Amino acid sequence: MTPNETAPPDTAYADAATRLLRGRPATRDALLPLLHALQDEFGYIADAMIPVVAAALNLSRADVHGVVTFYHDFRRAPAGAHLVRLCRAESCQARGAATIERIATQRLGVTMGATSADGRVTVEPVYCLGLCATGPNALVDGRPVSRLDAAKLERIAAEVLA
Ligand code: FES
Repeated sequence: MTPNETAPPDTAYADAATRLLRGRPATRDALLPLLHALQDEFGYIADAMIPVVAAALNLSRADVHGVVTFYHDFRRAPAGAHLVRLCRAESCQARGAATIERIATQRLGVTMGATSADGRVTVEPVYCLGLCATGPNALVDGRPVSRLDAAKLERIAAEVLA
């Protein structure tokens, strides 16, 4: 779902939660897997999902909200049509990730963690992609890009802004 699409009704979240929990104990241990599965299915964790998940797992809304807001992996709004995730973890930082981030956000016209006004691209931080030896790294629409430099960023920008 992109920012310009309409959110599904809350019943869709409840139906999905029920389906995704099938065969699994509805305990706190299921919270992270359920949230990840919901994000995979709907593209983000909508506010309306929080009470649904809390009820499904017999947790408080505050518990669920705390987990959703603690982990960087959970998106609170639909991503843009293209998703650029820039690694901010230590190895990539040591290899110039801060400079890459500055160039990327300027070139793509969006701040870190935000989606462009036209819904074309979202830039998000990620904390290690397991490719530390070849940093700085990014995931562009799920595709890893290593040894990022200005030239590679220009190609990425041309691709996602086309
Ligand atoms: S620190 Fe960036 S991929 Fe591991």
